[in-house]
Amino acid sequence: MALVTTKNMFKKAYEGKYSIGAFNINNMEIIQGVVNGAKAKNSAVILQCSAGAIKYAGPKYLKAMVDAAIEETGIDLALHLDHGPDFETVKLCVENGFTSVMFDGSHFDYEENVAKTQEVAKYAHDHGVVVEAELGVLAGIEDDVSAAEHIYTDPDQAEDFVNRTGIDSLAIAIGTSHGAFKFPPNFKPKLRFDILEKVQEKLPNFPIVLHGASAVDQEAVATCNKYGGNLAGAKGIPIDMLRKASSMAVCKINMDTDLRLAMTAAVRKTFGDKPEVFDPRKYLGAGRDEIQKVVEYKIDNVLGSANSLK
Ligand code: G3H
Ligand code: 13P
Ligand code: ZN
Repeated sequence: MALVTTKNMFKKAYEGKYSIGAFNINNMEIIQGVVNGAKAKNSAVILQCSAGAIKYAGPKYLKAMVDAAIEETGIDLALHLDHGPDFETVKLCVENGFTSVMFDGSHFDYEENVAKTQEVAKYAHDHGVVVEAELGVLAGIEDDVSAAEHIYTDPDQAEDFVNRTGIDSLAIAIGTSHGAFKFPPNFKPKLRFDILEKVQEKLPNFPIVLHGASAVDQEAVATCNKYGGNLAGAKGIPIDMLRKASSMAVCKINMDTDLRLAMTAAVRKTFGDKPEVFDPRKYLGAGRDEIQKVVEYKIDNVLGSANSLK
């Protein structure tokens, strides 16, 4: 039991035609829900922190809680920086013991993304840390960009990018999108498996990452709305599409929104059904239990990673 990189996780996932779930963590209850779910399914898992999570909780609290989770559960975990915006944030995470970092230069022009990613990869590899980077743009209606305007990843560029930067995994844009409002009301979600196949052909055995992969469970949305929320029109990626991607070159699937929805639904329901409750352990504990259920469901139905721990 240790904090590990994703290297071996991805090798096994590629060969076994499944994916590792990468779940965003911000506090103790989320960490416990995710790790308890992984432990119950004997599944490898990645815990990832955005720059916002690091600002909210602090890298030292996050790392210490993840160390505690390893000791309590006895399972290996990877600790990853999600959407690292710059070299300084990467450095902060490496210095604080993260085992994996993402540098997200997808919004820069291509050559700038290559140059900045090369710099991050050199530094991280010198410190034994693995690197994810991104090519293409995940559009979302929350960004005022219609889903039709995704900038899909170009497979030739993906090959060039991986060869020039030396990264360990690549996030690509094939039609997923961040957040709870991924598509306009009448838009039918569609993933470009043709692009994924071409990337896989050009980069055999290379781990691909899918961001923006929450399914946005309609029951959780309905519970939020029933108990005072306003999430009308929330919509995600169909799970059969994600399962298909995980059987291909996709080795890491990122989910945050589904955890947020599960926790919010549980907290709202606790307040709605039991107005006398004011003990945070009651409502946060309910949120933690729902997160565990979501993680177990994902492992069985989206990732296919049950029993991936030796
Ligand atoms: O992809 C982004 C993740 O959902 C993290 O979101 O920046 O609000 O922590 P955040
Ligand atoms: P969702 O918003 O679909 O959960 O995606 C999360 C993500 O990609 C984190 O990097
Ligand atoms: Zn993301």
